[in-house]
Amino acid sequence: MALIRPSTNVFTYELVQEIANFLIERVPVKPKVGIICGSGMGGLADNLDKKTSIPYGSIPHFPVSTVPGHAGRLVFGYLRGVPVVCMQGRFHYYEGYPLWMCSMPVRVMKLLGATHLLATNAAGGLNQDFNAGDIMIMKDHVNMMGFSGNNPLQGSNDERFGPRFPAISRAYNSELRKYAKEVAAVKAGISSYLREGVYCIVGGPNYETPAELRLFRMLGVDAVGMSTVHEVITAVHCGMKVFAFSLITNKCILDCESEEEANHAEVVEVAATREKVVQEFISLMVEHIGSKE
Ligand code: HPA
Repeated sequence: MALIRPSTNVFTYELVQEIANFLIERVPVKPKVGIICGSGMGGLADNLDKKTSIPYGSIPHFPVSTVPGHAGRLVFGYLRGVPVVCMQGRFHYYEGYPLWMCSMPVRVMKLLGATHLLATNAAGGLNQDFNAGDIMIMKDHVNMMGFSGNNPLQGSNDERFGPRFPAISRAYNSELRKYAKEVAAVKAGISSYLREGVYCIVGGPNYETPAELRLFRMLGVDAVGMSTVHEVITAVHCGMKVFAFSLITNKCILDCESEEEANHAEVVEVAATREKVVQEFISLMVEHIGSKE
């Protein structure tokens, strides 16, 4: 009898294909870009042209999203004429899902035909020059969860998705980052508060202690959050090009004596103030991706 290993990825290639086929049968859009909407940034999906929304609960084998501010559906449609699929609400490790389950939808996007992943998140600004409301292009990450042996690619590897030992050093596409800084940010009017830096994932759901944050700062981390890294690893593994950014929703508190503390209401509030510019920035990036090959 085969050993049952519940900690191992149950989403075989065939199962992911079954999910993709379910969607292909119901949706006339073949997405070029998969977009993951971070906390408070799901409004983008509501503004797609020729939209089709599919709640996670109605997709076979799909988990459901449990976080306030995360709607929980796939929204297909066109953004500036480019076919896209948006995750309106993502899955987090702290919800109780293993990382391979959190990032499974990226493989679905790949099998739907997406060549690019555009991921967004809300993050705490650890770099003390950052302010709430800043937008940080991700140029690299620290996979803190990977340090403890937790990785979305753990378990048996199916070469149809990608190689056993993928390189991850150029995960964040340099041409897209360049375009974002030199063109999209200028057109979206966000250059004055656009940053570029290193993101670090923590498991959450509690925010970090000052001692943890001081440690991350020593490691060269600029922003901290609870998502994205496993999605990016999964996308790079299956050959997708990645662009990702963080909306800095709060300054990280490095002092135990400070009266201030991080909270989710603040995260959602700051995200709301940047909603329109973030949508414009994403739209310009998608338009650019759509104009290539
Ligand atoms: N830490 C972790 N995740 C976050 C934060 C933070 O300060 N802000 C928004 N998401």
